Amino acid sequence: MLSKLDVYLNGKFLPLAEAKISVLDRGFLFADGVYEVIPAYGGKLFRLQQHLDRLNSSLAAIRMEPVMSDSQWADVLNKLVEPHAQSDQSVYVQVTRGSGSSRDHQLPDDYTPTTFAMCQTIATNSLDSIAKGIHAITLDDIRWDWCHIKSVALLGNILLKQQASDQHCTEAILLRDGFATEGSASNLFIVSNEQLITPPKSHNLLPGITRDLVLELAIKDGVRCIEQEISEQQLFDADEIWLTSSTKEIMPVIELNRQAVGNGQPGKLWEKISTRYSQFKTQLRNQQHD
Ligand code: PDD
Repeated sequence: MLSKLDVYLNGKFLPLAEAKISVLDRGFLFADGVYEVIPAYGGKLFRLQQHLDRLNSSLAAIRMEPVMSDSQWADVLNKLVEPHAQSDQSVYVQVTRGSGSSRDHQLPDDYTPTTFAMCQTIATNSLDSIAKGIHAITLDDIRWDWCHIKSVALLGNILLKQQASDQHCTEAILLRDGFATEGSASNLFIVSNEQLITPPKSHNLLPGITRDLVLELAIKDGVRCIEQEISEQQLFDADEIWLTSSTKEIMPVIELNRQAVGNGQPGKLWEKISTRYSQFKTQLRNQQHD
């Protein structure tokens, strides 16, 4: 059994303090790598296959091969979450192109990837406070054009989130050419005339795993769902706005640019779908391990 502080690095489980990589790692020098964040509820990994598929498409998009098979990943990640079965976790996975003998922009012909994974506890008190509703602002999307890749190059996202935080807001909703695409670390939904609308998958946004589940749950509940561009005006006129992510789940936005969204409270449809989301987590927690 691993200890709670053990992490995975390049084929070994070891204490966090002993996990070391080279300063020539291309992840460190160029942000040349990709990542995943996978929740685990009661020690059960949430939508693991979907997260691994997205990891492998991010790797392919940056011209890297899968670093191991899905069953090897399942084995590694299950071992990491096992000591934490009493609490909810987010598992962080990062793969970089490894290190060469010098700093060189050119992609190496041959490389040994750096593969890292660790667990972090999901703070349930922060989820409770999110459920009361969050404040957001709109900002121009200053990021690059390949936002569908879960790249570790997050400086744009981080600086946008900080601008929101400077204005006492939890998230920034990003605008590109007059359309709202996603949050700085989340996907976007609006409710308008009892329809749930989210932008279609494109290079402007990350194909969120939570986004897909929210759509699935809403469709199952008979909610009319549309994948459609959301104009800035539609965003401001929305009855409800939600932002979704693996660690923050479904965040109801109750204030946008200092104006109340709907009646300034989490909306009725949010209540319904977030209840379904909690039920989905409970089912997963209660599942027997294979
Ligand atoms: N981020 N869009 C962006 C830019 C994100 O960073 C994230 C999540 C999402 C939602 O994706 P998912 O539902 O698969 O978590 C959308 C993670 C949680 C992070 O960077 O920590």
